[in-house]
Amino acid sequence: MADTILVTGGAGYIGSHTTLALLEAGHEVVVLDNLCNSSLESLRRVERICGKAPLFVQGDIRDRAGLDALFAAHKIDAVLHFAGLKSVGQSVSQPLEYYENNVAGSVILAQAMAAAGVFQLVFSSSATVYGEPAQMPISEDVPTGTPTNPYGRSKLMVEELLQDLADSDPRWRIALLRYFNPVGAHTSGLIGEDPNGIPNNLLPYVSQVAIGTLKQVSVFGADYPTVDGTGVRDYIHVLDLADGHLKALQAISQRSGVSIWNLGTGVGYSVLQMIRAFEQASGRPVPYQVVDRRPGDIAECWADPTKAAQELGWKAERCLAQMMADTWRWQSGNPQGYAQ
Ligand code: NAD
Ligand code: UFG
Repeated sequence: MADTILVTGGAGYIGSHTTLALLEAGHEVVVLDNLCNSSLESLRRVERICGKAPLFVQGDIRDRAGLDALFAAHKIDAVLHFAGLKSVGQSVSQPLEYYENNVAGSVILAQAMAAAGVFQLVFSSSATVYGEPAQMPISEDVPTGTPTNPYGRSKLMVEELLQDLADSDPRWRIALLRYFNPVGAHTSGLIGEDPNGIPNNLLPYVSQVAIGTLKQVSVFGADYPTVDGTGVRDYIHVLDLADGHLKALQAISQRSGVSIWNLGTGVGYSVLQMIRAFEQASGRPVPYQVVDRRPGDIAECWADPTKAAQELGWKAERCLAQMMADTWRWQSGNPQGYAQ
């Protein structure tokens, strides 16, 4: 299948790995990104890995005229929509930026798609839409909850408005992919996660401690009702996540309306288990100190990935050791990320 796919946010962490997977699968790819949280270097490296480059358009999903021009210039078959802002802490201090980029941006993108006659959309959602889940593991029929921050609310709002859109017009074929905790990097060590400033998420923080950029990890709470008192999450390799997008794209070409799939492994690991696994993979010590809980965090969260297995034929294949080894290869080969 040699469809042309528009990837919004395709220069970013998950978008660049998925762009690579699309190119490797024989798709034509147009990337639209405003580079507010990424660098073109990621796409140059995608080309180094697979010998093919996506077509890059520097632009913004909030720019309707720009989108119209893009859809007029390229015959797009489907859109993978990664573009958005993702820092939970920043969303609390700058909520309007988050609602404008994530919610208004998605509305404008959907309007431009409809005007261009493009109705296949895969949206990057998050397990955060479940809020404080009443049961574990979390399956898709667990009702969405109350996210604890504007970032999470923006994801839930987009899910709901896309559902309304699909109810209004049967031509829409939409996948809402609820990611659990994406980690890891491409096995080449050429592309990976390159957070801006001090990382908020656990694994980028741990890997920057291992490389010596940061001194020690603050473990946010060791008094949760979990295996060792620290928070438990479902970490999923970014390459498995990328494969999940290709499967979702294939599936929505056959089914109309909204389909929701969790993308997780079904297995949870604690913060201390993650630190130990990273020490093993890197051969470096990762000093840590237990501090207070981080407001808004839940004790544990992992996916029931059965629905994606049954409906997409997709299952996360890569184990924790590989997530750690690939993160370390990327981090040690690119201590400053793409900026060198
Ligand atoms: P990222 O920041 O690396 O990638 C997002 C990309 O979108 C960046 O390249 C950025 O420059 C671009 N962008 C942002 N606003 C834009 C706009 N208005 N117009 C055009 N481009 C814009 O983040 P990521 O980790 O790759 O996440 C991708 C998507 O997945 C996001 O929507 C995020 O909310 C979602 N998600 C991420 C995680 C995670 O832990 N990484 C978890 C769940 C969901
Ligand atoms: N943690 C620490 N120290 C740190 C960072 C994190 O102890 O420096 C702990 C957290 O308390 C939590 C676990 O490590 O128990 C994971 O935290 P992350 O910040 O890496 O991830 P979250 O589960 O909090 O959230 C992530 C994304 C959200 C997304 C969610 C579900 O940041 O955007 O996964 O997909 F919504």
